[in-house]
Amino acid sequence: MKSESSSPGDRESAPQVVWHPQLVDRARREAAQGHRGAVVWFTGLSGCGKSTIAHQLDALLHERGHRSYVLDGDNIRHGLNAGPDRLGAWGEAYARRFGLGFSPEDRRENIRRIAAVASLFADAGVIALVAFVSPYREDRMAAKQAIEQAGRAGDFIEVFVDAPLEVCEARDPKGLYRKARLGEIRGFTGIDAPYEPPQNPDVHLLSHKRTPEALAAEVLAHLETRGVIPSPPGPA
Ligand code: ADX
Repeated sequence: MKSESSSPGDRESAPQVVWHPQLVDRARREAAQGHRGAVVWFTGLSGCGKSTIAHQLDALLHERGHRSYVLDGDNIRHGLNAGPDRLGAWGEAYARRFGLGFSPEDRRENIRRIAAVASLFADAGVIALVAFVSPYREDRMAAKQAIEQAGRAGDFIEVFVDAPLEVCEARDPKGLYRKARLGEIRGFTGIDAPYEPPQNPDVHLLSHKRTPEALAAEVLAHLETRGVIPSPPGPA
């Protein structure tokens, strides 16, 4: 696709970009560290507990000496996927072109970019814990496809963090539901923008029924069952 702002030779040069394989490949990294790389993809409404559970899981993995890292939607939107409001220093046209908001198209790009980053983490042997609202089924499926095509089948593990809207809205940790109800934020997921729940998630967490620690332990157990991480040795 050609944009009006392209100059000759920029976008057209893309076919000449060639993938350079790593000298230390994924299998070698995984063998050295004793667990697989993977992408654990947490999806759910704002305030459902995705980030909290992802960080709890990160701590559990870290305690076992495993390599993991949380990629959180709010944090990534401070940098890589910043909105136009954070890119003002580069000029208005630049900020408009590269900044990401919350339209369906911008969310798609948000998910596409973080799927690409998460896929590199998996290739590095790391367990990437992705906590993005990622409200559209099609975008999550595209993320899965991209991650598994670049890596292996089974690399993408979808975790549905399921809490009723009323619960998320009552928690309202950032005061955003209130603003959305007042019409100060438009297109807020669950209020005036859709959330499409996974139909067949790998893990389905009822986040309003258990503690974040217990929910993280559920995902940890799934990673063991799936062979991403080894099960700890049982009693002798
Ligand atoms: S996603 O839909 O594109 O996956 P992402 O996870 O990056 O969203 O960011 C969601 C966070 O941005 C929410 O937790 C909330 O703090 C904030 N936010 C701001 N505006 C919106 C909006 N319109 N819809 C949902 N979240 C929003």
